[in-house]
Amino acid sequence: MRTLVVDHPLVAHKLTVLRDETTDSPTFRNLTDELVTLLAYEATRDVRVEPSDIVTPVAPTTGVKLATPRPLVVPILRAGLGMLDGMMRLLPTAEVGFLGMVRNEETLEAATYAERLPEDLSGRQCYVLDPMLATGGTLAAAIRFLTARGADDITAVCLLAAPEGCANLEAGLAGLEVPVTVVVAAMDEKLNDKGYIVPGLGDAGDRLYG
Ligand code: PRP
Repeated sequence: MRTLVVDHPLVAHKLTVLRDETTDSPTFRNLTDELVTLLAYEATRDVRVEPSDIVTPVAPTTGVKLATPRPLVVPILRAGLGMLDGMMRLLPTAEVGFLGMVRNEETLEAATYAERLPEDLSGRQCYVLDPMLATGGTLAAAIRFLTARGADDITAVCLLAAPEGCANLEAGLAGLEVPVTVVVAAMDEKLNDKGYIVPGLGDAGDRLYG
């Protein structure tokens, strides 16, 4: 697993406002959208392209276009939905599939309650959207779900991660042959005893939609 922490002053600025407990929901949604577009630029660095012959008004030339099959973007409901528009701004022709997952706040185990994905993901590059990588249980389950359907390249886009969650995720993906990259705006200090990221930003789902 590869982890990429995006080091950019605009990302850091927007994240600081996002973390602030006085930031209201409309501002939080807007900032999430803007941040994801910045992260998406890094997350799509290895998006597959194929050669494409075109003719400009001046001359024929060969460029590239997104390869087929199209990438699949998978927001994890509910909080990941707040990241969808920001991602689709850079990948407007991507297909979108949905995974509904919730973490049991007592056991911290992730459970899947909804799924709307293509049956066959063979040869597909997938971009998973989930703002928080806390214990890593949700993301591990989502990635296992996608690779079981044939996805052969996974990039997770997150706003915040905890070091313990990254370690758990890596352990949870042991034996998986598929390359996994996590792109995140910041690696925070730790998890608290309730499984919240510290300093974090609180409950992303509640701050977006609560
Ligand atoms: C939160 C968050 C992640 C998950 C992270 O979702 O949005 O999906 O917890 O936790 P983990 O890394 O410890 O598994 P939550 O279960 O609160 O659902 P929601 O998005 O519907 O609010």
